[in-house]
Amino acid sequence: MKLLEEVQLKLVSSLKGKDLLTLLDYTSEEVQDLVKLATKLKVLTKAGKCPKLLEGKTLGMLFEKHSTRTRISFEVGMNQLGGKAMFMHSRDLQIGRGEPISDTGKVLSGYLDAIMIRANSHEMVKELAEHATIPVINGLTDIYHPCQALADLETIAENKVELKGLKVAFVGDGNNVAHSLVVACAHVGMNIAVATPPGYECNAEIIAKAQEIAKANGSTVTVTNDPIEAVTDADVIYTDVWTSMGQEEESAKRLVDFKDYQINDALVAHAKPNYMFLHCLPAHREEEVASSVIDGPNSFVFEQAENRLHAQKAVLVSLLA
Ligand code: CP
Ligand code: NVA
Repeated sequence: MKLLEEVQLKLVSSLKGKDLLTLLDYTSEEVQDLVKLATKLKVLTKAGKCPKLLEGKTLGMLFEKHSTRTRISFEVGMNQLGGKAMFMHSRDLQIGRGEPISDTGKVLSGYLDAIMIRANSHEMVKELAEHATIPVINGLTDIYHPCQALADLETIAENKVELKGLKVAFVGDGNNVAHSLVVACAHVGMNIAVATPPGYECNAEIIAKAQEIAKANGSTVTVTNDPIEAVTDADVIYTDVWTSMGQEEESAKRLVDFKDYQINDALVAHAKPNYMFLHCLPAHREEEVASSVIDGPNSFVFEQAENRLHAQKAVLVSLLA
């Protein structure tokens, strides 16, 4: 690692003033540069030298759903950068009583410098971004979780020699986390294989778009219903909960449908011996992942959770500084 004095911060200046709704809207170079910037900000932060690039700026954080990592890491990240963050739950705002999201976006743009939103519907976030005149950052929707995927890339990059050419296996639900991971892997030239039960596949349009990006970066995006096929020779194994927020009424059926997709010792035996296990968290031990794996020596889940802080700081400074 370079001496601190030599750490040159290169903001991703092409992103200034933009939104982060999905990594499909960013170029591969922008994604790769954000990951490098995240690691530099991590080094500086750990040395007590996080640059105060966002002094006087306020991030509004609007939540329709629960959160531990996203809420806390965005708030702490803004503090470390010299700015402030404000938590808002939709039920406390007038949107909870029917004020249009378009009006809310215009009003909040007069007070804040950026909005981070965790919402049920991606369409609603798009509408907010259309009407807000400040950057809108997606903190998870029904379709995407781009901030998570940037932290995932950072975690792999910090633990492997090179991202390009690695094989990532995502096993589980073809959900928001899977979609953003697929796009993120494509942007950095990692091969990704997604194994889902029949009926729980990723959105075909997102896969097709990711395949195009991957092709340009010399990698592949493949989908299968066979977890062993996905995990064979993998450098990284990733899973997420079988029942996402808002799907609770399907939980009993999902427990049955996903039972052969658990990440356990038998399945990981097909991966490379030095595979990394990742999970966006929160996790359900003995459902999507065995305790022996998530609490075992190949698990990087807490480092991954910490990296949300630094990856999001890379986004915040590039959009706002
Ligand atoms: N991974 C993630 O987004 O966690 P939270 O739901 O706790 O924010
Ligand atoms: N897929 C999960 C991710 C939580 C961070 C959900 O949407 O609930």
